[in-house]
Amino acid sequence: MRKQIVGNWKMNGLTAQLDDVGAIDAVVQNHPDVDSALCLPATLIAKAVDRFPRMAFGGQDCHALPSGAHTGCVSAMMLADAGAQLTIVGHSERRMAQCETDTEVCRKAVAARGAGLRVIVCVGETEAQRDAGRAEEIVLAQLHRSLPDDASDEWLSIAYEPVWAIGTGRVPSVDDVAAMHEAIRNAIVARFGSTGHTIHILYGGSMNGDNAAALLSIPNVDGGLIGGASLTAEKFVPIIEAATTAPAD
Ligand code: PGA
Repeated sequence: MRKQIVGNWKMNGLTAQLDDVGAIDAVVQNHPDVDSALCLPATLIAKAVDRFPRMAFGGQDCHALPSGAHTGCVSAMMLADAGAQLTIVGHSERRMAQCETDTEVCRKAVAARGAGLRVIVCVGETEAQRDAGRAEEIVLAQLHRSLPDDASDEWLSIAYEPVWAIGTGRVPSVDDVAAMHEAIRNAIVARFGSTGHTIHILYGGSMNGDNAAALLSIPNVDGGLIGGASLTAEKFVPIIEAATTAPAD
């Protein structure tokens, strides 16, 4: 499976930071064996597409409806219209701050797919849930409710992002990542059949240039969703390079 390396800029990035996008784009073009993309603030997507037409850009969320009276929201069709090729949905920062439910995340995924976007659906447990021994149960329940019945690798990737690892510099052990990714793999194969073997499962949460090679070598880790370390070429490029050498499973 080709690795997918996706940056999530969150609420960071003004026009001046497009220079960093340019430096990242230059490296991405030299590594066609990795599927790299940047999920930018919606305000930057059209500008980035205009300046760097060979690179894939995405949004970080979309509304479930195509248009309407939803002040401040951006629809999947609007992202596609701006030139986005993909979007994240169900990131834990939105699940928590915007109280998004699994059902809503599923509707957003369907809308994004309908607009022709690839979709990254995020799941992940909190630290309290892990400490209570409930991580797998929580993640698999989120996954079950957040994915529509016609999931396929043609349009969908899953990102496992333990909430306590996001932006903290803390990363689960190799064994814990391996166990969760295997559990997710088994669940999607049980639900979707053979297509479950081809759906990418990304790891997210404090991935950086130092730990990427080890994380990307874990079975069923088919790529990464990277926040802080995707904001500059200096930090993001080593992750893309690690993906080129990581074993494909
Ligand atoms: P982080 O964020 O790499 O800064 O931990 C990952 C994410 O939230 O997608």
